[in-house]
Amino acid sequence: MAVSFPKCPSSSLPPLQTRNRAWSSPLSAPHQVGDSSKWALLEATKRCHLSVSSATNGGSAVAPVEPSKKVQDSGTKTTPTDHSTKVENGIRPTVFSSNEFQDLKTGPDNSGRESTVSITVVGASGDLAKKKIFPALFALYYEGFLPKHFTIFGYARSKMTDAELREMVSRTLNCRIDQRENCDAKMEEFLKRCFYHSGQYDSEAHFVELDKKLKQHEGSRISNRLYYLSIPPNIFLDVVKCTSLAASSENGWTRVIVEKPFGRDAESSAALTRGLKQYLHEDQIFRIDHYLGKELVENLSVLRFSNLVFEPLWSRQYIRNVQIIFSEDFGTEGRGGYFDSYGIIRDIMQNHLLQIVALFAMETPTSLEAEDIRNEKVKVLRSMKTLEIDDVVIGQYKSHTRGGVVYPGYTDDKTVPNDSLTPTFAAAALFINNARWDGVPFLMKAGKALHTKRAEIRVQFRHVPGNLYKKCFGTDLDRATNELVIRVQPDEAIYLKINNKIPGLGMRLDRSNLNLHYAARYSKEIPCAYERLLLDAIEGERRLFIRSDELDAAWALFTPLLKELEEKHIAPELYPYGSRGPVGAHYLAAKYNVRWGDLGAEH
Ligand code: BG6
Repeated sequence: MAVSFPKCPSSSLPPLQTRNRAWSSPLSAPHQVGDSSKWALLEATKRCHLSVSSATNGGSAVAPVEPSKKVQDSGTKTTPTDHSTKVENGIRPTVFSSNEFQDLKTGPDNSGRESTVSITVVGASGDLAKKKIFPALFALYYEGFLPKHFTIFGYARSKMTDAELREMVSRTLNCRIDQRENCDAKMEEFLKRCFYHSGQYDSEAHFVELDKKLKQHEGSRISNRLYYLSIPPNIFLDVVKCTSLAASSENGWTRVIVEKPFGRDAESSAALTRGLKQYLHEDQIFRIDHYLGKELVENLSVLRFSNLVFEPLWSRQYIRNVQIIFSEDFGTEGRGGYFDSYGIIRDIMQNHLLQIVALFAMETPTSLEAEDIRNEKVKVLRSMKTLEIDDVVIGQYKSHTRGGVVYPGYTDDKTVPNDSLTPTFAAAALFINNARWDGVPFLMKAGKALHTKRAEIRVQFRHVPGNLYKKCFGTDLDRATNELVIRVQPDEAIYLKINNKIPGLGMRLDRSNLNLHYAARYSKEIPCAYERLLLDAIEGERRLFIRSDELDAAWALFTPLLKELEEKHIAPELYPYGSRGPVGAHYLAAKYNVRWGDLGAEH
């Protein structure tokens, strides 16, 4: 909504100019490649894509642990995935039909042997597996991104046949809405490649059985194995031990994707890392933070480093504050048991939001290689001031009745203790003590059961010095400063709030948006974060996964605060289900002279 400012007393001033097309770049325009050959298209895609290859370059630090016990990630070998699904020099081909793409990526390696990828989803009957992992794997298959030879195994304790697994998986598969051809046939083909193995998570014998089944599918090909641990963290180590000792690849790579929570604090996280490293090298561990796979989060670096208009502004000199906001319009119903021992700070802030801050604030990396990017991110995290309790507000939602409907409070959930003090909302002010960001508040806000579902990054710029038009803005200069909003979800968009002259003979200004609205600009459906991350793990691309030193730095920032909250039994401020959250969040922002951008007039 455009907001009108008071009429300017002088109508003789020259109008401000806008360049409506400033967001259009030929680089981003799809399908503008002159040569229609696939290779030309690939070359063109290379120039436009930021993804980087790392399976062939290793590059990550390998911890000095007993190699005899470890499964090896032979990502340094030339395997078919290395020169096929893989991106080279930062490139992932995106527009091949599945047959063409499969031809491209399943050629034999230097020794003439073909390879295969076996993906085992451990915890296959869980919610995450059903709702995200299997659908993401299917989407990759549908788009032709899985290698010609692949097998998917579900592993869990429940007894199930292959047919039952297929039936379960098929319920959550979707085809892209923008290209539905052969949807049913593709689903059928995909399901034929899905199998199930029932076993205990700590039984080496059961993993030996799995290994036998995997071998039957792999045949004489080079075997590459990816394990996705979609299980509670208390059994990570059991599974990693069993896969490592009984079901790792003997001639290809073995990689393990682990889902958060990676511990509850600095100590438990370090213990988990030590445990994992007894069996795996660091570069076999893919710690997933699915926010890093979201399209607009990935685009952050493109926006900043490939547009001259942004990078010079990206510092304390021009930026007043940065806000990273996450809200959900539903509570923790059904997940209370898990959530109560973690809370919103561990669930969302310490990982998803902090990762966004690190990407947002990092210095220009030397290259797009995973280690160069992760080195810069970790520097940001290490430059941050440890979070103090005075810079944090916590809240918990309470029951609320609206329109005759009763929305439950957090503690109404039977799996949550009645006297739980676990925060379902938190706001925090963080500071990066380096030359670029000294004094700039990075405000984070995350909450469940709020009035809206949204994730966004808001960058509020400083006031224009000696603003010629200040008389047109009334007394509220904050409302006249530029704001860049990166709406991660829903309805992805990037827009810049500018002041503009309302057309006419007078001199009235309003606030308008230069708006890059993804749905309007791009016809292609945006892939789910898990698709990108699974594909990266298959390709050995580590850029979007969390390295252990990043994790340590993230916990170091939050652990003292979390301990203090728990030791002092700090009570969260209650807020009604469906509201805008606790009032305390406004006071926290006001302390740093900030207003939350998501609560402004246009919202
Ligand atoms: C998960 C959290 O990591 O992210 C959940 O554990 C949260 O509590 C979810 O609901 C949000 O993810 P998305 O992609 O739906 O925004």
